[in-house]
Amino acid sequence: MTMLPYQAIVLCAFLQLTWASSLSFPSDFKFGSATASYQVEGGWDADGKGPSIWDRYVHEFPGDIKGNATGDVAGDSYHQWREDVKAAAKMKLQFYRFSINWPRVLPTGFANEINPAGVKYYSDLIDALLAEGIEPIVTIFHWELPVKMQDLGGWTNPLIVKWFGDYARVVYTLYADRVKTWLTLNEPNTVCDYFYNSGVFATRIKESDFAPFLCNKHMMLAHATAYRIFDKEFRPKYKGKISIAPHALWIEPATPEDEALAELGRQHQLGRYSHPIYSKEGGWPPSVEKVMLEHSLQQGHTESRLPAFTEQEIEFMKGTADYYAMNQYTTYVIRPSKAGDEAGMWFLTGSPELQATLYHPEKATYGTAYILPVYPEGMRKMMSWVKQQYGDYPILITENGFSSTGSQLDDHQRVDYIKNYLEQILLAMYKDKVKVMGYTAWSLIDSFEWMDGYETKFGLYEIDYNHPNRTRTPRLSSFYYSCVIAERSLDVAESCYKKDSSKVSSDDKNEIDKKYSPPVNDEL
Ligand code: NOJ
Repeated sequence: MTMLPYQAIVLCAFLQLTWASSLSFPSDFKFGSATASYQVEGGWDADGKGPSIWDRYVHEFPGDIKGNATGDVAGDSYHQWREDVKAAAKMKLQFYRFSINWPRVLPTGFANEINPAGVKYYSDLIDALLAEGIEPIVTIFHWELPVKMQDLGGWTNPLIVKWFGDYARVVYTLYADRVKTWLTLNEPNTVCDYFYNSGVFATRIKESDFAPFLCNKHMMLAHATAYRIFDKEFRPKYKGKISIAPHALWIEPATPEDEALAELGRQHQLGRYSHPIYSKEGGWPPSVEKVMLEHSLQQGHTESRLPAFTEQEIEFMKGTADYYAMNQYTTYVIRPSKAGDEAGMWFLTGSPELQATLYHPEKATYGTAYILPVYPEGMRKMMSWVKQQYGDYPILITENGFSSTGSQLDDHQRVDYIKNYLEQILLAMYKDKVKVMGYTAWSLIDSFEWMDGYETKFGLYEIDYNHPNRTRTPRLSSFYYSCVIAERSLDVAESCYKKDSSKVSSDDKNEIDKKYSPPVNDEL
């Protein structure tokens, strides 16, 4: 059948409309950006702050971290926080996710002694954000465990459940009048599985048999305790919602025959940190419970190395989240281990318990952080999996971002990354009918990237680490992101964000390039 010209016009318009509206974000979708305290604050021993395991670690083992970097000064947000608020306001962010440094508020970690300067710091930040119309989203724990608590066993000691609850209560008492969206723990699975299995990172403890699973159990109970305290003592007066933000690694099967193994992998990676909270039956994912018991018995243990929950604990944890939060960056592929394969380290290279090997997707691309292959499709699949597993919880993407190195204001790759991942989020919403609350670009400013020091950068704003004030300069990605926010759509014209960037490039770029040559002094 031949098409008449007017029919062709109508069809084009229709396609365009579909295209345009599917690139638009609904009015209740929120855009924000994030940082974490140790990564940006500095002021490591300022005004009565106590030491965290990261303060101790970087001073005792400087050689562990690239460029012998420390977070002693970092982006100096402890003093320069107004600049962070300005950066967020310029982009018209709807929310800013930051975290509270536990020993800045409670110097020993215990709730008997409160540091007024630390309390004021976060209070001022919250007020300034609200004054700009930016919602503060607060993470209560993003890895700065007070040293005293680590010396008592840290997350492997069951008493930490109460200690964390006491700390959370202090934080709510101070800020719940103004903070309405909370996250208890950032990436509990990274803390328990990656840190204890690798033996690098602040505890420097490599113990794969028990530590990851004890830590897992106590983090779930600590989260639930913090939730229950909020729910009972604060929500009636202040309202608000609260969740936990695991590292949501999407796991693909190597071949269609490996789908059951991939599903087990997902339960092992994310299910152990979600099933106790979001599933109807609660407790550990049954498939993981089974594998862990079998493997432990084979090893000659008399019980599973995955510690059991009591019936009471299962009930206590069930339903302790008001939304589903996830940090989503990447995808790995899983296959059964073959003879001759290394045992593997969960969740980077494999699992001895699952007898599985993990590797990176072939078609992934890379930023600077090799462990985070770029694979946008994984975002949609992960979100749809969460819906299919746990039902219609609204999802907040609490982190997603691209890593680069060196001075790079024209960060086209970060622009593409944000665009491609947001596109997958739209597909999850419109095609898979996933409910989504919003998206958080990691990170607002460059930051101390843990073992990678300052060499790996995620910032929408570049930090000049050679400048005493740690000046912040917007990257192209920040202009792009503000255009998306302004348009509430991915359908943004290049002219929207490139005009600003070209100004930056021509005026300031040479200046900035000069500052970075010779290469950045990482010791700063
Ligand atoms: C997740 C962590 O929460 C954050 O601290 C880190 O900087 C990013 N991933 C990037 O690696």
